[in-house]
Amino acid sequence: MKKYTDLSDIQELSQLITEVKHCKENPFQDKNIGKNKTLVMLFFNESLRTRLSTEKAAKNLGMYVISLQINNAWNLEFEDGKVMHLANSEHVKEAARVISQYADIIAIRAFPLLKDKQKDESEIIINNFVKYASVPILNLESATAHPLQALADALTLQEHTTKKKPKVVLSWAPHPKALPHAVANSFVKIMQKSEVDFVITNPKGYDLNSEITKDTTVLHDQQEALKDADFVYTKNWSSYESYGKILGSHTTWMLTKEKLQKAKFMHCLPVRRNVVVEDAVLDSDASLVINQANNRTYAAQAVLKQLLKTPKNE
Ligand code: CP
Repeated sequence: MKKYTDLSDIQELSQLITEVKHCKENPFQDKNIGKNKTLVMLFFNESLRTRLSTEKAAKNLGMYVISLQINNAWNLEFEDGKVMHLANSEHVKEAARVISQYADIIAIRAFPLLKDKQKDESEIIINNFVKYASVPILNLESATAHPLQALADALTLQEHTTKKKPKVVLSWAPHPKALPHAVANSFVKIMQKSEVDFVITNPKGYDLNSEITKDTTVLHDQQEALKDADFVYTKNWSSYESYGKILGSHTTWMLTKEKLQKAKFMHCLPVRRNVVVEDAVLDSDASLVINQANNRTYAAQAVLKQLLKTPKNE
């Protein structure tokens, strides 16, 4: 694997999930595979799980890890041909090549600004690092994708299903802030590749990018969608059509124990209690959120293993 910026970089999903399981069963089996190799993690935004689980995964493989909160470094310019007389002090062309000399893998978290759909969808940060770095790039959540989260979620589902083809519902939830589409997009993509009966439910005006949802059923009636669900993955995202906007409070879309019925509950975290989902769900045995967060380590470990097999260009 030359990079892991989107689920499309996976050649064989079931094989990779099996590898994630192996990493979980025996985390130190490959403790020398990353010996004398360095993971550099660049954070343009905040993180709890991604930062800690990816660092733990890299260390399980024997790697050194360097994390940089990028707002403590020089402001980067990404536009080609720019006259750099304003705030940005360093171009990604130099930065990516410099960091490549210190790193064997560069991992990047870079959320969208949710102002300009076209700009966000161009994935300017991740794609410029892919273009100018000479080492593999790992996506720690970008404007449109959170592929490590999706991999951890797919394993969590497999671990907790008792059915060959469970019903999985991705249910939009209210939130006071405008949030990106990345987690939802990647969850949709991985469910489309999985043996599940998959339904998305959201209020009108919140349909995800139809190029991603494709022929997946989208219902605007949450009650209808949740009927007979085995897993309910709850997540907020801002409007895609009215890009980055919050269209109303929609508080009745909060997930309750009553709505969940016998299903298992999933969320990528962090989650706002009693806004997105009520305490009674999170505090019940139906909640898989801690399991999902645990699986983040092994998803990252399996992917790092694949990336470590790619030789350095320079
Ligand atoms: N789920 C997730 O990516 O968590 P963090 O934002 O804390 O990394």
